[in-house]
Amino acid sequence: MTVLLTGAAGFIGMHVAEALMARGDDVIGIDNLNAYYDVRLKRARLARLEARAGFRFLEADVADREAMLGLAERHAGVTRIVHLAAQPGVRHSLVDPYAYVQSNVMGHLVVLELARRLRRLEHLVYASSSSVYGANRDLPFAEADRVDHPVSLYAATKRSGELISESYAHLFGLPQTGLRFFTVYGPWGRPDMAPWMFAEAILSGRPVTLYDGGRLKRDFTFVDDIAAGVQGCLDHPPEGTAPRVLNIGNNRSVEVRRFVEVLEGALGRRAIVVDTPRPATDVAETFADISAIQALCGFAPRTPIEVGIPRFAEWYLSWREGG
Ligand code: NAD
Ligand code: UGA
Repeated sequence: MTVLLTGAAGFIGMHVAEALMARGDDVIGIDNLNAYYDVRLKRARLARLEARAGFRFLEADVADREAMLGLAERHAGVTRIVHLAAQPGVRHSLVDPYAYVQSNVMGHLVVLELARRLRRLEHLVYASSSSVYGANRDLPFAEADRVDHPVSLYAATKRSGELISESYAHLFGLPQTGLRFFTVYGPWGRPDMAPWMFAEAILSGRPVTLYDGGRLKRDFTFVDDIAAGVQGCLDHPPEGTAPRVLNIGNNRSVEVRRFVEVLEGALGRRAIVVDTPRPATDVAETFADISAIQALCGFAPRTPIEVGIPRFAEWYLSWREGG
């Protein structure tokens, strides 16, 4: 089967593409290779994918109507879409708000317009975010909870994507699932996320900035578990046109300072910690109720941070040496 995957040069995209190809799917990868972070890392991920027979790459912006809608004729055999391309990062949305609306709202809409032109499409799975839960205090976060108080523009654009998808499911019968990813980490991760920034600071003897002294909590989810969940979900399209949004997390809420402790162990060096107030974009805690995705496709995260962080650290050290 042929899967169209947006954000293929990205962190999660690369892992999802590898998982799909490992089971024999063909992947058409799309990415605009923007310079939000080091493009050499995006190209290195792509090089891994392009070394495999089942992968083709198209450089395109998902918000570019002409380029994207043109794919409907040229790739009419596509049966599934995994849409991951987006402007990520909760804190950066204070710096460059326009990039978020352009990629995450306009880009999302254009992907839906492409989807409804693909006659053989069975399922579109797209990336949403745990950040849509905003400052909700009822834990764990469940899909039935209200999600109308985003505390970052990033979260507002991700919630907008869910709502636009809901209208397209209703209007055009598009079978879709939105996955609310919870803080994903692992090898080939993003330089703007905490694991990379913390590891780099520890190795270069610079201070690690911990918001509220590291007492914030995250449901840190290992990327291989995410890739398995995306794949499992892709194989289970919703019946009918009811909108579907699912949490995908590790189902454990961990203090950031514990994350740093395990990272120190994996790198064999102590961190110099600086306590800083929490930015207004960052929520106190995330924790995923994963019973719905478990029931749907048997999703079962198997990677505690004690296993996942050493795997990230090992990759990071090799990237830092040779990359
Ligand atoms: P990433 O930045 O590594 O990957 C996104 C990729 O999309 C990048 O390669 C980028 O070049 C590409 N892209 C961005 N805008 C584009 C556009 N307009 N057109 C074409 N390509 C574009 O980020 P990631 O961590 O792999 O995130 C993947 C998805 O998961 C995103 O939708 C993100 O919002 C979501 N998400 C990630 C996390 C996480 O913890 N990593 C958590 C929640 C949600
Ligand atoms: C991550 C991704 O970056 C977002 O794209 C995504 O949408 C979000 O997960 C999600 O789950 O939806 P975040 O949880 O902030 O956002 O991930 P990190 O940047 O890796 O931060 C992890 C934790 O460390 C957070 O609690 C953050 O507040 C904290 N942190 C981060 C610090 O204490 N200090 C820093 O310098 C950076």
